[in-house]
Amino acid sequence: MEKDAKIYVAGHNGLLGSAIKRRLERDGFSNIICRSSSELDLRNQSVVEDFFRRERPEYVFDAAAKVGGIQANMNFGADFIYDNLQIQTNLIHFSYKYGVKKFVFFGTNCMYPKDYEQPMKEEDMLSGAFEPTNEPYAVAKVAGFKMCQAYRKQYGCDFISIVPASLYGPYDNFDAASCHLIPALIRKFHDGKVEGKEFVELWGTGKPRREFLFIDDVADAVMFLVENYKSGELINVGYGEDYSILEIANIVKEVVGFKGEIRHDLSKPDGMMRKFLDSGKMKGMGWEAKTNLRDGVRKTYEYFLENEIFLFHK
Ligand SMILES: NC(=O)c1ccc[n+]([C@@H]2O[C@H](COP(=O)([O-])OP(=O)(O)OC[C@H]3O[C@@H](n4cnc5c(N)ncnc54)[C@H](OP(=O)(O)O)[C@@H]3O)[C@@H](O)[C@H]2O)c1
Repeated sequence: MEKDAKIYVAGHNGLLGSAIKRRLERDGFSNIICRSSSELDLRNQSVVEDFFRRERPEYVFDAAAKVGGIQANMNFGADFIYDNLQIQTNLIHFSYKYGVKKFVFFGTNCMYPKDYEQPMKEEDMLSGAFEPTNEPYAVAKVAGFKMCQAYRKQYGCDFISIVPASLYGPYDNFDAASCHLIPALIRKFHDGKVEGKEFVELWGTGKPRREFLFIDDVADAVMFLVENYKSGELINVGYGEDYSILEIANIVKEVVGFKGEIRHDLSKPDGMMRKFLDSGKMKGMGWEAKTNLRDGVRKTYEYFLENEIFLFHK
């Protein structure tokens, strides 16, 4: 990418989009364009086409999506499938129509079959049924990947699809109703510490295993792939090690300094037992993640403490 190339980061206010934007700025890219969802609703085909016609971005990072944890996915399946299909369809099609040089689509580990062989390899996609709690989201994401592949095959578009492991880091969403595991744990243990609670409840058995990737590492991987990857096949980007949810909870508990117990709320679902990506393809290309879970959680908690008042009063 040339330093003055016109780059559109869709979803620049989100966890992934903001990390990509910060990284592009740090690397000296000077022509980055962004729109919030209130300025440009990416579900709306005609306004998205107007935007592409006017702005003519050369590179597009599609980090705009409807995203959420298990509860949100279970309650709002219709929104998850509709919003994501609309957003990605508009971005992919108009990127083709207005000659975007490279389009980067982001999939998710939920696209892989439920309780399939681990670690999950790129070629395992569509080898079995999805985890039912997030099926609408997974179906939309698989459609986005297949659409990128079809546009590459039919029109020769350089559209790539990246599957990052679960992400965490500064700028994550800490809203109790919709946040993911690590911010939820940070909030619970932090509140437990401040309120002097005896225990904190963890959803489910704590046995499922999860792989987490620090946000600055995924931004680094994305920059690497934009320069070095020109294939329609998926590419996994993980940390290379996974932990049980209980192990993750214990790391967060120690970093936050909560002294009470962890108890299990067994009325809540576990979700998939394991979601471990095989990142061998990335490793084979010479890229590996650098931030271990404890250091990443520490940086995320520092951000939480620095922004606590802002986070809970906006
Ligand atoms: N978070 C993870 O653990 C993870 C892991 C693997 C893959 N991914 C993928 O990474 C991508 C981004 O995830 P994220 O965690 O960064 O999500 P996020 O923090 O929720 O951010 C998503 C962004 O999408 C924008 N958006 C949503 N609906 C929109 C609409 N109708 N029009 C325009 N913009 C809209 C929002 O913009 P506003 O803020 O302006 O409303 C928001 O900033 C997703 O494709 C997700 O599947 C995420």
